[in-house]
Amino acid sequence: MCTPAFGRSTSVMCAIIVTNTGRRRRVSEIRLFLLSRSVLSMDGHREAGSSVEVDDLNLSRLLNKPKLNIERQRSFDERSLSELSINVRALEGYDSIYSPGGYRSGFNTPSTARNSFEPHPMVAEAWDSLRRSLVHFRGQPVGTIAANDHGSEELLNYDQVFVRDFVPSALAFLMNGEPEIVKNFLLKTLHLQGWEKKIDRFTLGEGVMPASFKVLHDPARKMDTLIADFGESAIGRVAPVDSGFWWIILLRAYTKSTGDLSLAERHECQKGMRLILALCLSEGYDTFPTLLCADGCSMIDRRMGIYGYPIEIQALFFMALRCALPMLKHDAEGKEFVERIVKRLHALSYHMRSYFWLDFKQLNDIYRYKTEEYSHTAVNKFNVIPDSIPDWVFDFMPTRGGYFIGNVSPARMDFRWFALGNLVAILSSLSTPEQSMAIMDLIEERWEELVGEMPLKITYPAIENHEWRIVTGCDPKNTRWSYHNGGSWPVLLWLLTAACIKTGRPQIARRAIELAESRLLKDGWPEYYDGKLGRYIGKQARKFQTWSIAGYLVAKMMLEDPSHLGMVSLEEDKAMKPLIKRSNSWTC
Ligand code: GLC
Repeated sequence: MCTPAFGRSTSVMCAIIVTNTGRRRRVSEIRLFLLSRSVLSMDGHREAGSSVEVDDLNLSRLLNKPKLNIERQRSFDERSLSELSINVRALEGYDSIYSPGGYRSGFNTPSTARNSFEPHPMVAEAWDSLRRSLVHFRGQPVGTIAANDHGSEELLNYDQVFVRDFVPSALAFLMNGEPEIVKNFLLKTLHLQGWEKKIDRFTLGEGVMPASFKVLHDPARKMDTLIADFGESAIGRVAPVDSGFWWIILLRAYTKSTGDLSLAERHECQKGMRLILALCLSEGYDTFPTLLCADGCSMIDRRMGIYGYPIEIQALFFMALRCALPMLKHDAEGKEFVERIVKRLHALSYHMRSYFWLDFKQLNDIYRYKTEEYSHTAVNKFNVIPDSIPDWVFDFMPTRGGYFIGNVSPARMDFRWFALGNLVAILSSLSTPEQSMAIMDLIEERWEELVGEMPLKITYPAIENHEWRIVTGCDPKNTRWSYHNGGSWPVLLWLLTAACIKTGRPQIARRAIELAESRLLKDGWPEYYDGKLGRYIGKQARKFQTWSIAGYLVAKMMLEDPSHLGMVSLEEDKAMKPLIKRSNSWTC
């Protein structure tokens, strides 16, 4: 618990805080200092002299474009946009590419304790549970276990450290000024990447990162050993395409948060990045810049009809490419990748913004499509048959709002909404600012469907009956409105919160966090909820699911100190023209 003892004057506020993690620190904030120094840009980059990303900015933009700036003391929604539009960045200049976004000199307290003197009681409980989930290897913390559910009879692989699951844990530790575990994790997984990976007689690509790993303790021999799963043990035997992308994204978050460039610059990290990039940038038979994937190769790690070009992977792919770009050394090997990344980003953003984007106008255009068009003049390039548009999407689509649909490939559009892909699209600026706003509009307009009583639906709507049989292969875990098939996943709260802050709509995050706070602790931090409204604890949901816990903490810390956003957010890169507006025709 946080027990503050503070004295206040008009300009100075001091507090002794016993933090939720049991640390005792003195926090001193001088308001005038904050007003002039700790001013945030729209996507949360702390502007305190050091925290501007050169990779995301150029000088002309600094000088010309008035930015949306936000002070720390007051929340975004308390003030009008015009009030926020003061450009202090131009006055302050910028210095380092890797600015300590998570650290603030003298402020090392969990931010939940820092800004709010009465943190929710759940915060302390969450920290305790998160620490209980720590996994050690030869005395060092290297990750967090997926679930710490002692009540569960079947452990399956929930006793392992999953790469994707560790991301919110890592962010929580970074935000709390504990980067060591993140560094250990990055190095340990990098080491695992170096292993030879075989499924039966087939050898996987060198760059594949594991889905998860486990530490085996042998008390007799006082030995710790590691085992890793690259898909060869996973249900369905699919390699995790998202792991490598998350690894790169986390490396940037670490670098940005700590200001420690030396880790990313290490030979082995450079090589690890290049190996991941080599896998996803390789040339083949592709006619699209998107990445072709097997079903179940991401957070949705079972057959759910997301084979092809799933939005989750495309958004993570885009984000990982953008994160890698400034971290890659421009040496002989790195330079080649830099060039390939730039080209791919350009094509990928165009493709996604044009063909995956759906709003009212776009839906109406597709509805009226002609089919069987041949040659480069075709409007309906992928030959989508309008009859294949599902009924639900006509009702679901609000007049205001839009989203990136689940998948686009020849004669196939998966119109389902997928939360992770859309939120990562906002954070990575894969979506244009207009599209980001439209995604947030959609979440607001379709709150009952997408959030309901527990944030956040992983996908919408659920598939049922015959379609469920065909698409999932009769998967009993993925019945309608359960698990990956329309279930609600509390972990997504941190992504929603980050997207809300980036788009200047923290009130949406606040509403979602309140919903989570009414249930999560009481229900024992379930992995997911079931039902159309997400009202029921998931049929087979694990309790004390670590990423539900960490996701909540990250959401809280980010909302209370939006400067943390810089760790997981990238500004729009104007070089990725042409900028496609909210509703664009398929011809452009
Ligand atoms: C389930 C989820 C997957 C997660 C894993 C561990 O398999 O689908 O996304 O990484 O559990 O929590």
